[in-house]
Amino acid sequence: MRAMSNKYYITTPIYYVNDLPHIGHTYSTVAADILKRYHKLLGKDSFLLVGTDENSQKSSEAAGRAGLTTEEYVQEMSTKWEQTWQKLGISYNNFIRTTSEEHKKGVYDFFTLVEKKGDIYKGEYIGLYCKGCEAFVTEKELVDNLCPIHKLPPEEIKEENYFFRLSKYKEDLLKLYQDNPEFIQPESRRREIINYVQNHLEDISISRQGMDWGIPFPTDEKHRIYVWFDALINYLTGIGYGTDDKTFEEYWPANLQIVGKDIIKFHCALWPAMLMSAGLPLPEKIFAHGFFTINGQKIGKSTGNSIDPVRLTEEYGFDALRYYLFTEIKFGGDGDFSEEKLREKYNSDLANGLGNLTARVAKLAENSGGEFQLTQHTFNEASTEEYQQCIENLDFQGALQVIWQIIRSLDKTISDNELWKFKDEELITQLRPLIEDIRKVSIILEPFLPDTAKLLQSHFTGPKINALNPIFPRK
Ligand code: MSP
Repeated sequence: MRAMSNKYYITTPIYYVNDLPHIGHTYSTVAADILKRYHKLLGKDSFLLVGTDENSQKSSEAAGRAGLTTEEYVQEMSTKWEQTWQKLGISYNNFIRTTSEEHKKGVYDFFTLVEKKGDIYKGEYIGLYCKGCEAFVTEKELVDNLCPIHKLPPEEIKEENYFFRLSKYKEDLLKLYQDNPEFIQPESRRREIINYVQNHLEDISISRQGMDWGIPFPTDEKHRIYVWFDALINYLTGIGYGTDDKTFEEYWPANLQIVGKDIIKFHCALWPAMLMSAGLPLPEKIFAHGFFTINGQKIGKSTGNSIDPVRLTEEYGFDALRYYLFTEIKFGGDGDFSEEKLREKYNSDLANGLGNLTARVAKLAENSGGEFQLTQHTFNEASTEEYQQCIENLDFQGALQVIWQIIRSLDKTISDNELWKFKDEELITQLRPLIEDIRKVSIILEPFLPDTAKLLQSHFTGPKINALNPIFPRK
């Protein structure tokens, strides 16, 4: 097994640029950001990679509709994606674009290894292709002759293509899942993949002919590399594969790759097989989360309901959005998003819960006129075992419940002891442990509510503590 290392490398899917970020994309990215921040607080050298998947046919079609060249279009859209993650406070270390020169260089290096291994061959492909999925679909998967996900009629494609010998890796993949039960999580997804690999694994076409967009196929100029084959390699090129060996070796293999349940075949079967072929180490774990609906409806352009996360952030603050996304739904399962519920949670848990507690304690501290010499807690001292265990198990809801139990118990201490009746030294004595606990809470809140955590940490520093305006004004 791998030696213990002090690094933590986590990835999100790279998103297609023909769409703007919606709440679903935000969900994957914030989850990764929580884990990145958590591991950083544990003292790990943590790296979060995000980016955009630009070599898809969808990019050139969308560019055409927008009246731009594809280059102009992908540039404009990827900037918007990056700005969104900045506005949402995502602490990414690199934003990889698959049209960048670094990425292409890494893709070519990777391709060379796979080709040398004898895993690429030329064959003829006849199949039904869904542009929405950027993937072939089987007749069996269609519902009323339409792709069940995108409700689009697939096109029949017949062409000479290059193939990757995916089926060659069937036994190795099954052994991987068998020997490392944690490799794919949650368990339901692991079973789905085992079934797929056991019963449906076939070689996969990795080139397309007659396209004017995409990375040129290294050994045949009539072809372009199939977008998924190039996109997956972003997890390597994003940390320097092909251009900066030192950084690459420092961070690869990834500790965790977060994906949505729609793209697990690519990540849990194709991707490890590609890495085996290239002779590179495999990621430690792939976690697939569920899907959000909005008021019970699938999110999508066609349904016109793709809520803009930036607008929500402007209205409620990004901490509130993060809080809602991860208390509302158990990470892994499906869930429904509603702004009404977001507002309810905001008012009950943030405005009344945390906001009220911190305002009360700060006011009492000011009234006491006291000076508080406070302890500096490390992250480990501030956090409980239960909290850490929850995050290690990717049970974000559980970790937030641990924090909110503490918040409620602090509130109860104030009420039960009727602190407002105390004065001077007596009040100061009663307040000190409460303030220490708020400081601890502010430390373990950081992965989830980074802005709030910082604000509380700087407010409750002592020795003088002033009154605090409500940190979450009621909505
Ligand atoms: N470009 C590929 C991924 C390549 S990774 C090497 C892609 N892009 S995408 O823009 O379609 O994003 C898909 C991902 O967005 C999902 O896997 C999931 O992480 C996230 N989500 C998209 N819609 C979502 C919901 N409705 N709910 C939750 N997550 C969703 O696929």
